[in-house]
Amino acid sequence: ESPKHNTEEKLEKVCHLLDQEISYFNWTGFYFKNGDKDELKLGPYVGAPTDHTIIPYGKGICGQVAVSNETFVVPDVNEESNYLSCSIDTKAEIVVPIFKDGKNIGQIDIDSHTIDPFTEEDKELLEWLCNEVSKIL
Ligand code: SME
Repeated sequence: ESPKHNTEEKLEKVCHLLDQEISYFNWTGFYFKNGDKDELKLGPYVGAPTDHTIIPYGKGICGQVAVSNETFVVPDVNEESNYLSCSIDTKAEIVVPIFKDGKNIGQIDIDSHTIDPFTEEDKELLEWLCNEVSKIL
């Protein structure tokens, strides 16, 4: 069993845990930089399948976080012009970058079916989690 496979299993477990524990987390997944390209590639996730398996840097909430290096909390996706819709049920989104050796290598992305659901505690939890996750990458 390759280490890569093992890592993907762990990330999948993280997605499942978040999905189970927090009722307003309705799609939870990881995106990672796709090799040398300035684009994100979908990693492990829990939720409805998405068309956005590749996202160029700068595009959508995810692509913006890939270049801003900052957590992006979107209380209402309808207010965002640079947004890639995965599901008409999605009302809000939070994207938190993952850093390895100071480089922005990916992110966790959470969609919610509830408007403005994310608390400061959610943001802090996810930022802590991304820091933990980066240790196994
Ligand atoms: N909404 C994201 C695209 C990814 S899906 O939410 C899974 C965005 O605007 O970047």
